[in-house]
Amino acid sequence: MAAAISIQGLTKKYVDVWQKQEVVAVNNLNLEVQEGEIFGFLGRNGAGKTTTIKMLLGLIFPTDGDATLLGKPMGDNEVKRELAYLPEETYFYDSMTGWDILDYYARLFKIPEPERSRRVQICLEKVRLQPDAWRRSIRGYSKGMRQRTGIAQALINDPKLLFLDEPTSGLDPIAHAELRDIVASLKDEGKTVFLSSHQLADVELICSRVAIIHRGKLLTEGKISDLVAGDYAEVVAQGKELNSVIGQLKEFAPGSEITGGDTLRVTLPDDEKINAVIDVVRGAKAKIISVVPHKRTLEDVFVETVRKEDGS
Ligand SMILES: Nc1ncnc2c1ncn2[C@@H]1O[C@H](COP(=O)(O)OP(=O)(O)O)[C@@H](O)[C@H]1O
Ligand SMILES: [Mg+2]
Repeated sequence: MAAAISIQGLTKKYVDVWQKQEVVAVNNLNLEVQEGEIFGFLGRNGAGKTTTIKMLLGLIFPTDGDATLLGKPMGDNEVKRELAYLPEETYFYDSMTGWDILDYYARLFKIPEPERSRRVQICLEKVRLQPDAWRRSIRGYSKGMRQRTGIAQALINDPKLLFLDEPTSGLDPIAHAELRDIVASLKDEGKTVFLSSHQLADVELICSRVAIIHRGKLLTEGKISDLVAGDYAEVVAQGKELNSVIGQLKEFAPGSEITGGDTLRVTLPDDEKINAVIDVVRGAKAKIISVVPHKRTLEDVFVETVRKEDGS
């Protein structure tokens, strides 16, 4: 598979004129995003996500480093026609209708009629904006409808590579889930999506690979399934004769310990041996109190990674 985005040593330093100090917003970033994937670019507020996207789009200049998009150097005019961008905040004129906004962007891309109207309609349908809203001014749109209009606008030139900067932030749960599904559907159309977000549950559902950026530095990247690997299971049992089997348990479940009198707590590195542990415990006439499998989530990975970096 070809790389849709390839970033080498990308760095952006800002000079904070008030504090008279330098802010390293993005620090020597190296990253590859493959064609056809939805890639999650994760980080807390201020981590450097928007700055990275703006550099890739040629909206601001990097202090250092380089990148290619769809095999061409970033900022290349030809490649810009293949890109789309949904900024964190979309500013549309309130008096325009959803249709007008898309028509306006289609004109910027010099799409002639009748193709223009056809594309506008296709894009509004793709983001599932109700047809009765198409000709209404966006003044009356909800935040979710505005975000849909934003994505429709981003799709107008049938781009190959989309940059979506926190598209689901600030939406109510229903609008949120709907927008997430719309983003997920872009993959079926073969598009590559660079999705900046701190909505980890969304990212876990729709992205294949992620990168975590913190204070401008890349902390980790990889397949979500690899990053969340490390499920474990915990068995708790009670009984007076458990002491007699603890040695046996420790052999295949090293994290076995007797706590508080008769209570046994067994932590297993995976859930494969649960049955074996239960057999041994019941053989010692003990009562099983609980069997809990723990599934690691992307949120666990994110919190651990960022805390480790901060040394807390
Ligand atoms: N124009 C600017 N001038 C000075 N500092 C900036 C500017 N834009 C962003 N920053 C700083 O760069 C860092 C990264 O910001 P940003 O890329 O917006 O993060 P994110 O999108 O992850 O929230 C922050 O510390 C922010 O305050
Ligand atoms: Mg941002």
